[in-house]
Amino acid sequence: MGDGADGAHARGRARVVLLGPPGAGKGTQAQVLSQRLGVPAISTGDMLREAVAEGSDLGGKVQGIMASGALVDDATMAEVVRERLGKPDASEGFLLDGYPRTLPQAETLAGILGDAGLSLSAVLLVEVPEDELVRRTLLRSRADDREEVVRERLRVYREKTAPLIGYYGDRRLLRQINGNRPVESVTAQMLGVFGIEGTEGVVG
Ligand code: AP5
Repeated sequence: MGDGADGAHARGRARVVLLGPPGAGKGTQAQVLSQRLGVPAISTGDMLREAVAEGSDLGGKVQGIMASGALVDDATMAEVVRERLGKPDASEGFLLDGYPRTLPQAETLAGILGDAGLSLSAVLLVEVPEDELVRRTLLRSRADDREEVVRERLRVYREKTAPLIGYYGDRRLLRQINGNRPVESVTAQMLGVFGIEGTEGVVG
C-alpha cells in the first residue's frame, strides 16, 4: 500500500475521492467499494439529479446547467457537499464520486476536512480512452448522455477537472486505476490500494 492510503484500510475510515472523466465507471465502482470499505458512496451527480426530480430550488437552479454539460458553480457545490459530509453516516469515512471537479472545489474539500482535523486517504483516478467513454455513455439514456453533451462534458473535464491530477499527485494521494477492463478487475485494483483482496485476487 502506498503512503497516501496509510490508515485507510481499517473498515469505515477511508476518505476517498473517485476522479475520472464522464463514463469512466466512477458510479459503478462507488457502489461496490462502498460495501467493501464500509463507507457511504456520495455522488454529487446523483444528489443534483434527485434535486431536479424533486423540483426543489436547487433542482430548478441546476437543471439547465446539467443538461448542457456545464458544471454547477463552486459555491453551490460547496454548500451541497458541506451539508452532506456533515451527516452522521459520513463521520467515519466516505467515497466521493464526482466531487471535487475544480481546483477551488478541491480546496473547499481540504478545508472541510481540515476543520475536523481530517484529510483524504486516497484519490483514485479512473483512466479510460475517450472513444470508450463516448461508447459507454451513449449506451445509456440519461438526459445528459446525448453525443454533443457528452463531448462537452469531456471538454469541461479536460479544462476544469484534469488539473486535479497534478494537484493530488503533488500531495501523493493519487492512485492511477485502469478503468478500461471488466468491472470486477477495476474493483480489484481499487481494493488493492487499501490492501483488500478483490474477488479476482491480484491484477496488474
Ligand atoms: P455526474 O453524475 O458526476 O456525471 P459524470 O462525472 O459525467 O459521470 P457519469 O455518471 O457519466 O460516469 P461515471 O464515471 O460515474 O460512470 P458510470 O459508472 O455511470 O455529473 C453529472 C452533472 O452534474 C455534471 O455534468 C455537472 O453538471 C453536475 N455536477 C456533478 N457534480 C458536480 C460538481 N462537483 N461540480 C459541478 N457540477 C457537478 O458508468 C458509465 C457507463 O459505463 C454505465 O452504463 C456503466 O454500466 C458502464 N460501465 C462502467 N464500468 C464499466 C466497465 N468497466 N466496462 C464497461 N462498461 C462499464
